[in-house]
Amino acid sequence: MSAPLIEKLPDGLANLADFEPHAQARVDANAWAYLNGGAADEITLRANRAAWDAIKLHPRVLRDLSGGHTRVALLGRELLHPILLAPIAYQRLFHADGEVAIAHAAAAQGAGIVLSAQASVPMEDVAAPMRADPTAGPLWFQLYWRDDRDFMRALLRRVEAAGFQALVLTVDAPVHGARDRERRAGFKLPDHIRAVNLGGLKKPLDLQPGQSALFDGLMPRAATWREIDWLRAESKLPLLLKGLTHVDDARDALARGVTGFVVSNHGGRALDTLPPTTELLPPLRVALGPDVPLLVDGGIRRGTDVLKAIALGADAVLVGRPYVHALAASGALGVAHALRLLRDELEIAMALSGCKTLADAGPALLWPGTSFR
Ligand SMILES: Cc1cc2nc3c(=O)[nH]c(=O)nc-3n(C[C@H](O)[C@H](O)[C@H](O)COP(=O)(O)O)c2cc1C
Repeated sequence: MSAPLIEKLPDGLANLADFEPHAQARVDANAWAYLNGGAADEITLRANRAAWDAIKLHPRVLRDLSGGHTRVALLGRELLHPILLAPIAYQRLFHADGEVAIAHAAAAQGAGIVLSAQASVPMEDVAAPMRADPTAGPLWFQLYWRDDRDFMRALLRRVEAAGFQALVLTVDAPVHGARDRERRAGFKLPDHIRAVNLGGLKKPLDLQPGQSALFDGLMPRAATWREIDWLRAESKLPLLLKGLTHVDDARDALARGVTGFVVSNHGGRALDTLPPTTELLPPLRVALGPDVPLLVDGGIRRGTDVLKAIALGADAVLVGRPYVHALAASGALGVAHALRLLRDELEIAMALSGCKTLADAGPALLWPGTSFR
């Protein structure tokens, strides 16, 4: 695939939210409902945002911050900053360059990518710009389990050959959430947009009359702990689980050789009424100790949100919908600009709260009485 087109940025973009109206003007109602909707009553979707807003910062002043930086260590690498792009399926719904555009943007801005298994371009086309830039952030591949071990084995070999550095198995969505907004809009994937890296899957199970499409059709093919063991045995790449929220599950996963976790409620798209990730993260960090890699996503829109996430125990964050708004608005340039805005906001938030490095951001940075567990 050719390099993405350089487009113009709309005037007056001051923050991530400013991309949204420009994106909406370019995306049809079908894709818009798919991108922005959540599950059921969207309680978790709203809670994710409200929770970051509700956490207050308690800055320190007059510290010498010269030489400060946003660098963090993650999976044995030093990153320029702790911001990664979350896996979001079918990005050619939003821009003709799709996931290739976000790879150019992430590489230019030192950001990481977790590429969706349901990407709409070949994974190699996303890996190439990231691999070409030594300052690019991590390049990870997100998996949904498919009950076809030959297929999964071949997929893992391809992911490894393309240069991805870690696997992220998403465990909170063995079935789509009840996404009302999307269903009302009658969302349907257009014929020309496909999960191009997932060809060659087995046919769905045949159901007998009276059987449940979910429990008899899908669930026998969903991942269990057995598949975690299989993945660990099949690939030497570090394996992270995305969407695991219970401390006991996390301990089981670590005992099976899982490396780390993305603390996530799938951006409010899977099980509605899950707590916001601001509440899911701290108990995991406390229980697992300081060394287990923990990333968090869901509603992160501001540099102050990134700083709060680190203060609550995250090593890094993933941003979802806003970068797709930037992609829809102005392709690779839009995503690069969104990432730059977020990095700048993070630096400003650090400087204004007395953090020379992100190691200075801990619970003491949060106003006493801040409501998180
Ligand atoms: C349109 C859309 C598609 C998504 N596709 C995937 C996916 O393929 N795999 C996955 O693990 N998560 C997927 N997610 C969830 C995101 O990775 C992420 O957890 C969430 O969007 C973060 O919340 P935010 O959008 O509020 O930043 C998707 C989210 C959206 C909005």
